[in-house]
Amino acid sequence: MRTYKLLTIAGIAALGVAGAVIADGHASPEITKAIEDRQAHMKGYGKAMGVLGKMAKGEVDYDAAAAQQAADDLAMLASADQSTYWPEGSDTSIKGSRALPIIWQEAPKVMAIGQDLATAAEAMKAAAGTDLAALRGAIGQVGAACSACHEKYRQPKN
Ligand code: HEC
Repeated sequence: MRTYKLLTIAGIAALGVAGAVIADGHASPEITKAIEDRQAHMKGYGKAMGVLGKMAKGEVDYDAAAAQQAADDLAMLASADQSTYWPEGSDTSIKGSRALPIIWQEAPKVMAIGQDLATAAEAMKAAAGTDLAALRGAIGQVGAACSACHEKYRQPKN
C-alpha cells in the first residue's frame, strides 16, 4: 500500500502558527501563497475531471490516451502532500478564499474525504485507459469525494 500524504493533522496544526492574519482581510504572504497553491491544485482537479466528465457524459468521444493522461494527473494531485495548503486563518475571512472555518474544527473528517478522493483517483487511474465503461464506472466515486468536501467545507459562490 502506498502512504498518502494528505491533509495531515500535524500539517494543519503546525501551520496554525505560520500565518497570522495581519488585518482586515489582508493576509500574511504565507497565507496568500497557501490559498493560491490550493486553488491552483483545485483547478488541476477541475481540468482533469472536465476531460473525464465530458467523456463519461458522451459530450466528447472517448479517447483512451487523453483519459489516461487526465486520470494520471488526477491521481498525482490527489496523492500529493497538501499539508501546506491549509494554514489556520486562510478561511473566508481572507478575500478570495472560500474555505469555510469549519475545516479547521473538523480536520479529521476533511482528511478522510481527502483519503477517499485519493482512493477513488487511483481506481480511476486503473480504469480510465481501459474503455469508456470502466471510466464511467469509476467517475462516480471521484465526483462524490469532490462534492462531499465542497458541500460542507466550501462557501457557495454568491
Ligand atoms: C478536502 C476537501 C476538498 C476536496 C476533496 C476537493 N475540494 Fe475543491 N475545493 C475545496 C475548497 C475548500 C475550495 C475553496 C478553496 C479556496 O477558496 O481557497 C475548493 C475549490 C475548488 C475549485 C475552485 C478553485 C479556484 O479557482 O478558486 C475547483 C475548480 C475545485 N475545488 C474542484 C475540485 C474537484 C474537481 C475535486 C475532486 C476531484 C475537488 N475540488 C476536491 C475543497 C475540496
